[in-house]
Amino acid sequence: MSYYGVIERYRKYLPVNDKTPVITLLEGNTPLLRAYSLEKKLSHKGEIYLKYEGLNPTGSFKDRGMTVAISKAVEEGKRAVICASTGNTSASASAYATRAGILCIVIIPSNAIALGKLAQSMIHGAKVIALKGNFDEALNIVLEATEKYPLQLVNSLNPYRLQGQKTAAFEICDTLSRAPDRQFIPVGNAGNITAYWIGYKEYFEKDVVKNKPRLCGYQASGSAPIVLKRKIDKPETIATAIRIGNPASWDKAVAAAKESDGYIDMVTDDEILEAYKFLAMNEGIFCEPASAASVAGLLKAHREKKIKDNELIVCILTGHGLKDPNLAVKQVSKPPEMECDIKEIMRYLGF
Ligand code: F0G
Repeated sequence: MSYYGVIERYRKYLPVNDKTPVITLLEGNTPLLRAYSLEKKLSHKGEIYLKYEGLNPTGSFKDRGMTVAISKAVEEGKRAVICASTGNTSASASAYATRAGILCIVIIPSNAIALGKLAQSMIHGAKVIALKGNFDEALNIVLEATEKYPLQLVNSLNPYRLQGQKTAAFEICDTLSRAPDRQFIPVGNAGNITAYWIGYKEYFEKDVVKNKPRLCGYQASGSAPIVLKRKIDKPETIATAIRIGNPASWDKAVAAAKESDGYIDMVTDDEILEAYKFLAMNEGIFCEPASAASVAGLLKAHREKKIKDNELIVCILTGHGLKDPNLAVKQVSKPPEMECDIKEIMRYLGF
């Protein structure tokens, strides 16, 4: 069957009409992979799946929301969009705006986004500002700019973003023919956990599925305002995608966790890196560090004996590992440089 992207697949659930021009890069339809090594490691009797959102066109889940936000911006006659970003929103906005033929302005924290993400916005021709400030400060500037100038906001405060992103919950349910018992998900600006909850609730209310998952969100411990119940002025973590001290959808994320009988907790950078390496070295899946916070959360919850051993679990891997190659190569030893000498090479390899 041909695939035309999330707007066409889930049109009846989305705020689009016959006049909405569909700006798509055929996002969505990402794999839900069985995590055999994780199941084994945890001696878990139920199934564990990984929703590999890194396989979206620009390498993160942001594309699901961006296709709707940019399509609506074009429908409404907007000529320019703007976002603050830790890198993935800006990469996605840059690609979709370019496809729509409109201007994209991105404000990113200087020296605090992964190289791949910066490259994406630059090569798509966005107007990129590297702000001497963090993400929270960038978002404040963008919010003020959209109030005063003819610019469309495409951060997740734009409701079309969350509408698009909820399609990931639909896909999980459509693949499993039910909702999971529990979902682990990284939390940064807190839009995605909110979007998943909208999606799961909608499928439940429309009787497509008979259950809803517990949503278990995880922040990085150096950037965990929701867990610590206070804004963090100088958020820190190696998971730069979720280095956020004052999430825009704070209240909605707390509500999603509470209504779903889940929670929001935090994991350390070491726990994130352990999960990141485990996935790469055992499941063959390369995700970015922020994404590994979901699996780090599962490992932590398992240690804390929060999980029943027959639960159907899904962890969301929000972005691709290639976004942040510098961090990846720091985790492992450098390959040896060798002469063009087959004997020497084979001896080194132990043959
Ligand atoms: N994982 C990745 C890879 C992300 O890029 C983000 C957010 C999150 C998780 C957290 O999602 O913000 O909806 O809670 N990135 C945003 C950005 C902030 O600008 O790209 P969230």
